Amino acid sequence: MNITMIGTGYVGLVTGTCFSEFGHHVTCVDKIPEKIEKLLQGEIPIYEPGLDVLVEKNVKEGRLNFTTDPSEAIPDSDAVFLAVGTPTSRRGDGYADLTYVFEAAREIAPYLKDYTVIVNKSTVPVGTARQVARIVKESNPDADFDMASNPEFLREGAAINDFMRPDRVVIGVESQRAEEVLRDIYRPLYLIETPIVCTTIETAELTKYAANAFLAMKISFINEIANVCEAVGADVTALAKAIGMDGRIGPKFLHPGPGYGGSCFPKDTLALLRIVQEYGENVRLVEAAVEVNAAQKARMVKKIREAIGGSETGKTIAFLGLTFKPETDDMREAPSITIIPALMEKGARIKAHDPQGMEEAKRYLPDGIEYVKNAYEACKDADAAVLMTEWNQYRSLDLERIKRLLKQPVFIDLRNVYDPETMKRLGFRYTGVGRGV
Ligand code: UGA
Repeated sequence: MNITMIGTGYVGLVTGTCFSEFGHHVTCVDKIPEKIEKLLQGEIPIYEPGLDVLVEKNVKEGRLNFTTDPSEAIPDSDAVFLAVGTPTSRRGDGYADLTYVFEAAREIAPYLKDYTVIVNKSTVPVGTARQVARIVKESNPDADFDMASNPEFLREGAAINDFMRPDRVVIGVESQRAEEVLRDIYRPLYLIETPIVCTTIETAELTKYAANAFLAMKISFINEIANVCEAVGADVTALAKAIGMDGRIGPKFLHPGPGYGGSCFPKDTLALLRIVQEYGENVRLVEAAVEVNAAQKARMVKKIREAIGGSETGKTIAFLGLTFKPETDDMREAPSITIIPALMEKGARIKAHDPQGMEEAKRYLPDGIEYVKNAYEACKDADAAVLMTEWNQYRSLDLERIKRLLKQPVFIDLRNVYDPETMKRLGFRYTGVGRGV
């Protein structure tokens, strides 16, 4: 199969590369010449474990190419995937900004030749695929194409595995012909018996929002229960384990923490709220999940303040981890962006370390933070350590050393990585999330 991928952002690059690994011929198109230049030289613009190896291999084997010129591959493509960004609109109303999607539709239209399936991969409001089809038709009335929606369910940091071993593939189509093209593209997954849910375009579009909203709800639920655990003297870790053993609930996404972040949950929950509003409907549970998430971040500021004795003035706080989760350099909507400035405003000095995210962090966090080489340097002479992101290197810290380095043995574990009993035995004043026992 010949595939064109429009957009070499996170989704486009991972998806295009994985399709080439499946054996398809993939051309990734991006408007930014410097990005394409770098990709052609084997430089990957994002940190995603395993991606560099796959890009290099497939480029070498001639199945993966990068260009700024959409005319290069579109005429021979069986499918053109749109994987451009859909940020929250600058109007600040939560709507997804579809400028890039519509621009891409106009750009590809003149080059369509023979039958092609245009597949939307970007997360877009219900009805967008139809708008894209209209734009393509207006720009090129003779184009022979079908529209499809194929939402992605990749997690940053685990994207390659998520792509190669998905729980399911969702395809929204309107014709048998388009369905066959997409089934052919995903044929390599039949070997591992991946279920394919084939449905209408609108259902596929909404499925993506519903999946992310449900996961966000699950996190906000366990965060609220964690807070109740603190109040009543219960342990959320055991509680989450126990409820997760019920097959109807499931064990995943029940880890309490400082609130969810990233480029997806915050954006997609807000976008869903706007979509349903337009239709005069409600998703009150999702609304609550969003509110709970904001409150959770604020609660973490209070938690840190209390742990250091009630005031930030003149205190130095060591942050271990800054990104919204491990195995990524992505700082978008990371809870640290809310928590750190709030502490600084009240007079805290911040020393911070992150294995991959420090360069990105500088773009999102206020000046004046001291970025250091490792967790130990961060803790040196600090009044408290805050474990913000559960990177592997923070999971087996030399705790005796950390305790010696800290001015006061205060350890605030916002990811519940460490065992409270052990920490107390080591002499730490330890605070987790939802560990009220
Ligand atoms: C999420 C979804 O998991 C993917 O399925 C989806 O494709 C993707 O959004 C997207 O729409 O593109 P991602 O944002 O990369 O993926 O990261 P997650 O692993 O889902 O984590 C999101 C946030 O939730 C992180 O801040 C994480 O720390 C937090 N989280 C996750 C918790 O606080 N507790 C949990 O139990 C799980």
